[in-house]
Amino acid sequence: MRKRQIIIDCDPGLDDAVALLAAFAASDMLDLVGITTVAGNVRAELTQRNARIIRELAGRGREIPVCAGAPAPLLRDAVTAEAFHGSTGLGNIAFPRPRVRASRAHAVNFLIRTLRAGKGFPLTLVMTGPMTNLALALSMAPDITEGLEEIVVMGGADSEGGNITPYAEFNVFADPHAAAAVFRCGVAMRVLNLDVTHQIRTSDDQIARVRALGSKQAVAAADLLAASNRLEESAKGREAPLHDPSTILCLLRPDLFEGRQATVRVVTEEGERFGQTVPDYREDGHVLWYNQADADAVFSEMLGQIARYGE
Ligand code: BDR
Ligand code: CA
Repeated sequence: MRKRQIIIDCDPGLDDAVALLAAFAASDMLDLVGITTVAGNVRAELTQRNARIIRELAGRGREIPVCAGAPAPLLRDAVTAEAFHGSTGLGNIAFPRPRVRASRAHAVNFLIRTLRAGKGFPLTLVMTGPMTNLALALSMAPDITEGLEEIVVMGGADSEGGNITPYAEFNVFADPHAAAAVFRCGVAMRVLNLDVTHQIRTSDDQIARVRALGSKQAVAAADLLAASNRLEESAKGREAPLHDPSTILCLLRPDLFEGRQATVRVVTEEGERFGQTVPDYREDGHVLWYNQADADAVFSEMLGQIARYGE
């Protein structure tokens, strides 16, 4: 079977970092052709640095480009989420300084070039941050949709309500105009939104099982998950959801997730619902909006992937 070629567009971010570690580990199923970064959880300079830190931790320093992208949303003022990710974006955990630089290519140019080249063999774009880079790429080169098999997004919320406002989820709220353009582009999408990610949380016991795997990558994954829990606990009094890793785990084990087809509108008008996603559930919708997950099995899949670093 041909490996699925993916690009990860992200804003690391503690949970983005765990998603990257899982994706690097799953190299028998996923061919990660590049990482693009965007301003989001922390400013753009830090998200690209954090992606390079995780790339080197995974031992993949030179093969996979990290391309820095948009430093600000399309129209709105920037919002960040240090309260959930620490001032570095990686929970202030001390990682070695990354040695391999970011690619010279801008993320948007990398997306356009790679997706155009992918027309015969469409790629999957995984997005775990604000959707600014893809929105810019779509505006500059609308034909890139032909190079996309599907877009797998962490973002949005319906029945759960928001996590940054009562209605809006962070990634969509951070650039609603970009999200609106992506939801409109017509490419098949799968959306890991708060309705489902809030069902997948990691307990201290589960984190201890990750740590016990013993490799430096597993210990780092446990540190990232523990920092995420610590910050979520102080802000919201609960264990942190596995938001971004669920995109990768859903690519590896789609049978663990359930949802409904929909089309999705994003509220871009100023007001209390700014950044809200509004799914219209219909069988002919091009968006698979997830609402159920087998949380224990999703954790086991993640554990299994992280365990591969020790092999
Ligand atoms: C999303 O927001 C960010 O803080 C996380 O990294 C995740 O992508 C959850 O709403
Ligand atoms: Ca993220």
